[in-house]
Amino acid sequence: MTTKLPIEVQRAETLKPRPSEENLGFGRYFSDHLFRMDYTAERGWHSPRIVPYGPLGVDPAAAVFHYAQAVFDGAKAFRGQDGQVRVFRLTDHCRRLNASAARLCMPTLQQEHLEQSLVELIRVEKSWVPSAPGTALYLRPTIVATEGFLGVRPAERYTYFCIVSPVGSYFAGGQQPVSIWVEEQYTRAAPGGLGAAKAGANYAASLTAAVEAKKRGFAQVLWLDALEHRYIEEVGTMNLFVRIGDEVITPPLDGSFLPGITRESALALLRHWGVRVSERKLSIDELREAHARGELKEVFGTGTAAVISPVGSMGFKDGTLTIGDGKVGEVSQRLYGAITGIQYGTAPDTFGWMTRVD
Ligand code: COI
Repeated sequence: MTTKLPIEVQRAETLKPRPSEENLGFGRYFSDHLFRMDYTAERGWHSPRIVPYGPLGVDPAAAVFHYAQAVFDGAKAFRGQDGQVRVFRLTDHCRRLNASAARLCMPTLQQEHLEQSLVELIRVEKSWVPSAPGTALYLRPTIVATEGFLGVRPAERYTYFCIVSPVGSYFAGGQQPVSIWVEEQYTRAAPGGLGAAKAGANYAASLTAAVEAKKRGFAQVLWLDALEHRYIEEVGTMNLFVRIGDEVITPPLDGSFLPGITRESALALLRHWGVRVSERKLSIDELREAHARGELKEVFGTGTAAVISPVGSMGFKDGTLTIGDGKVGEVSQRLYGAITGIQYGTAPDTFGWMTRVD
């Protein structure tokens, strides 16, 4: 049986000035408190507490710094027009954090304890949940190995913490279509690797290609499969969807990229609307052929941070393709409206995705 976590709350003596909601950007501001809990092999997870935001005080020999034993998740809490605060797919995000932890040989937490930790932290930081359109409180639960030991094996000490950040659009241009570079040299993850876990190491592996794409004038990288560099996998930090004619296609979960919660939500909505959806492999050749026939209607990314991000153009070594008319596509627009409608409580929560925080 699960017992409730006895969370100790230590309030900050001075509170931070609030940033303007008009120009939050993504991940720049952090609230007054964080949640923290520690793990040792002898005591298991213990000492759940909400404390003033500040440094964690971790041993420089900790495995997180040397061997990247670190996982995180990203969820969002929204303030509806009715003032009510709701978290989107809380249970799924907590489940995924535990799945990521298990992949990196880290101890998992009880599902209910993870959910409680996030809900209690949001309660303490409720006034940090912004209300301007398109804003949210981004939740960043994270588990890191803190044992100071340089041998390569799973650590015996960990810290689970969660920080929260009021955010606006992930991309500076908001919902404007982005340009993406089709990456044929670097890979981000391979089948059997860490790609399906939200491990910090996956994001480190993506940086060189992202920097080179930026130098070429593209905002994001489109990743192809690691084995043949033929099949589409994901885009930047997001899952990818392509509309060819009346079929909406997204790559099947093969273990080399993240099982996105927004991806799953988009699939549920599309199926609910009766749209023809396929989770199948899609090669870059098939995509280019569809473009040549005039049937490549839309490409978009899905993710917690960016929600739905339309792609306006794709760059290859031999030239750039414009997708559709280069503007936001019909399906991207409809999905964005439906998902944000549920998140802000202006549309019915048909799928039971929202958790109220009172
Ligand atoms: C997401 O959108 O799900 C993310 O995790 C993005 C984050 C890495 C900035």
